[in-house]
Amino acid sequence: MASRVNRQWRIASRPRGTISEANFEWVESPAPAPKDGEFLARNLWLSFDPTQLFMIGRNELADAASGALPLGSPMGTLAVSQVIESRHPSFRPGEIVHGQMRWEDYSVSDGLGFTPTYRVPEGVPGNWAIGVLGITGLAAYFGVREIARPKRGETFVISGAAGGVGSVAVQLAKLEGLRVIGIAGSAAKCAWLTSEGGADAAINHRTEEVGRRLTELCPDGLDIFFDNDGGPTLDLALDRLRTGGRVVLCGGTANYSLTPRPPGPSNLMSLIMANGRMEGLLARDYIPRLAEAAEYLVPRLRSGQLRSKEDTVTGLRGAPSALARLYAGENVGKQLLRMDDPPGARPGS
Ligand SMILES: NC(=O)c1ccc[n+]([C@@H]2O[C@H](COP(=O)([O-])OP(=O)(O)OC[C@H]3O[C@@H](n4cnc5c(N)ncnc54)[C@H](OP(=O)(O)O)[C@@H]3O)[C@@H](O)[C@H]2O)c1
Repeated sequence: MASRVNRQWRIASRPRGTISEANFEWVESPAPAPKDGEFLARNLWLSFDPTQLFMIGRNELADAASGALPLGSPMGTLAVSQVIESRHPSFRPGEIVHGQMRWEDYSVSDGLGFTPTYRVPEGVPGNWAIGVLGITGLAAYFGVREIARPKRGETFVISGAAGGVGSVAVQLAKLEGLRVIGIAGSAAKCAWLTSEGGADAAINHRTEEVGRRLTELCPDGLDIFFDNDGGPTLDLALDRLRTGGRVVLCGGTANYSLTPRPPGPSNLMSLIMANGRMEGLLARDYIPRLAEAAEYLVPRLRSGQLRSKEDTVTGLRGAPSALARLYAGENVGKQLLRMDDPPGARPGS
């Protein structure tokens, strides 16, 4: 068989300020071959996650201890992929898997890593498997339904509300009978939240004063704060937490690019005064419960009761700009990339 060409993006430099294509180098080389205990997969869908900034290295001082990959390394990603060769006991050619791959056509994997590889449930399309039923969906599902302990009629406020996790969490909170207020960074995001997303109200954190709007919208306080951004919104929410309130710590996008780390919330005393609870969740630890989440989510996605809001770039060439979109706040819904066909993947191409 003629050798497969593997198109790939490697990390060329650490970002100074914003991420751009200049931080990556496009390389074409023969596809790798799996060794014993490994499989070769063709990548189909790539996920874009704010924490990928740690892999590129937040700044020129980035080192391995901070999660930065060495310069010259292929860029890492979560992906949905098809196994095409296997010397791994658990994965067979033809299977569709979700796992840690790289920005390239063909990735070799041992199935391990921070997020272990798992088989995508039968019949789940790739765009759902990488988003609403992937790590993003697990964070939203277990964050809302389990960590937040929602009770019908309660007030639920969420930051990063129109992103990947947020767009699912908002809809799940509505399905739980909560009053939902989403905080997001553009008029388009706020419009989506109060239309298709079903939120009761939206706050544009770029044009509105969030604290004042929260006081207007929640004069009696809030019961649940689902935090995707970290940063000052957490303080504002803590100040307004009702008795028995819950704070779900999902992400801290506002802090990821900041060194040194900014000071933490200054008002944790509010948790004491509210008999409140603040709890983090790490979605990859919920992978063993994916079937449980899928049992709830898939029928609702199929019936249209729940929508997978996706922002899709097509073609591996667009990977750097897709990641930059997250940090520019341009994505509405889950930022995905659908791979184009690598050279020679189809007869005649
Ligand atoms: N705990 C877990 O296991 C888990 C799993 C998945 C994701 N997460 C975390 O959840 C959060 C949301 O992830 P996602 O994949 O759904 O991302 P996302 O919300 O789709 O995209 C990132 C969003 O963050 C906002 N943003 C960008 N730069 C920012 C900055 N400097 N300060 C504040 N906000 C900024 C923008 O939204 P606006 O324009 O609306 O501000 C942007 O659209 C992230 O922090 C992520 O790391 C956690």
